[in-house]
Amino acid sequence: MGYDGESVRRHRIAVIPGDGIGREVTPAALEVLEAVGRAHGFELELTEYPWGCDHFVDTGRMMPVDGIELLRGTDAIFLGAVGRPDVPDHISLWGLLIPIRRSFRQYVNLRPIRLWPGIASPLRDVTPEQVDMVIVRENNEGEYSEIGGRLHQGTEDELAVQEALFTRKGTDRIISYACELATARSGRICSATKSNGIIHTMPFWDERFAEVTSRHPRLEAEQVLIDALAAMVVLNPGRFDVIVASNLFGDILSDLAAAVAGSIGIAPSGNLNPEREYPSMFEPVHGSAPDIAGRGIANPIGAIWSAAQMLEHLGEQEAAAAVLASVERMLASDGPRTRDLGGTATTADVTAALVSSFTSA
Ligand SMILES: NC(=O)c1ccc[n+]([C@@H]2O[C@H](COP(=O)([O-])OP(=O)(O)OC[C@H]3O[C@@H](n4cnc5c(N)ncnc54)[C@H](O)[C@@H]3O)[C@@H](O)[C@H]2O)c1
Repeated sequence: MGYDGESVRRHRIAVIPGDGIGREVTPAALEVLEAVGRAHGFELELTEYPWGCDHFVDTGRMMPVDGIELLRGTDAIFLGAVGRPDVPDHISLWGLLIPIRRSFRQYVNLRPIRLWPGIASPLRDVTPEQVDMVIVRENNEGEYSEIGGRLHQGTEDELAVQEALFTRKGTDRIISYACELATARSGRICSATKSNGIIHTMPFWDERFAEVTSRHPRLEAEQVLIDALAAMVVLNPGRFDVIVASNLFGDILSDLAAAVAGSIGIAPSGNLNPEREYPSMFEPVHGSAPDIAGRGIANPIGAIWSAAQMLEHLGEQEAAAAVLASVERMLASDGPRTRDLGGTATTADVTAALVSSFTSA
């Protein structure tokens, strides 16, 4: 099907495939985006940046000094994954991802999780109706802080200190975002806390949660200690809809919830600047998966779902819904699936099946 409307909408997208399977799932998602664009009347102006760990090994930097400036004028950023076994993970994270998330005030990390019809959860007797939640992870502060240091390295007196940072502004805005999302969804919100063990920041988080949710009296709000919450997401995933969590808790919980939904390979994420003062960034939850990189077997659905999140952010709601509907149809009708989902298909097989749903419609 081709678009027969009058004008073609254009969106400027910076693409950073990154490392490992990032370079396999990114082209897959771009192929799907191009096909859905043709069907829905928009074009993407793509600028690709070869940044990541190879760039670090060649130049000593994950991205050039003016990297943030190069991204600033775009409508959105699409990222694959970063990480290479011979480059320390804190270098790849703090040299690229975290500077982008912080410079562009992408303080919401939105991670939806669904058990798609046709996919088996590793849990017995769990149905797609029971696994449909969104983790709203704080993305700019919390436990991921640069404040701290190390002393007496290599001696018996060695020590490391890391400060967690929670501001009222940062905490309120993430909880407010989650409240609005919960209002638009089921009306239920759960806060991940740990105010029994962490005696300053987490009681503060709880106080802000109580204050912000009191402005949304129709919401059913609860808070659960993160350790118990991890167990509950496994034992009773249907209990949860919107979960708001700090940077670290949200990161861990979203991998756990993605596993409940069948594979981390299908989980998407949006790093959002809700005020739209800066570009937002979309990327699969998974990393560069060096154990399977280069073999053409990575599941591209996490990247493709992230691309659908990006379309929604760009105002292409119909196209975003069409991408998700084609993923749903493919999985429900026993279409190709990669090894992480128990199949034998390649990245290219899954991509071709999704692309054909737009070209043959
Ligand atoms: N946002 C990011 O760029 C990001 C996120 C997480 C980890 N990392 C980095 O990635 C590297 C590897 O980290 P890791 O092994 O902890 O996590 P990972 O997500 O890369 O892999 C974990 C496991 O899941 C599998 N897997 C992941 N994505 C898959 C997909 N699309 N299809 C099929 N299987 C998939 C992998 O094969 C591996 O067994 C590290 O360098 C880490 O720092 C980057």
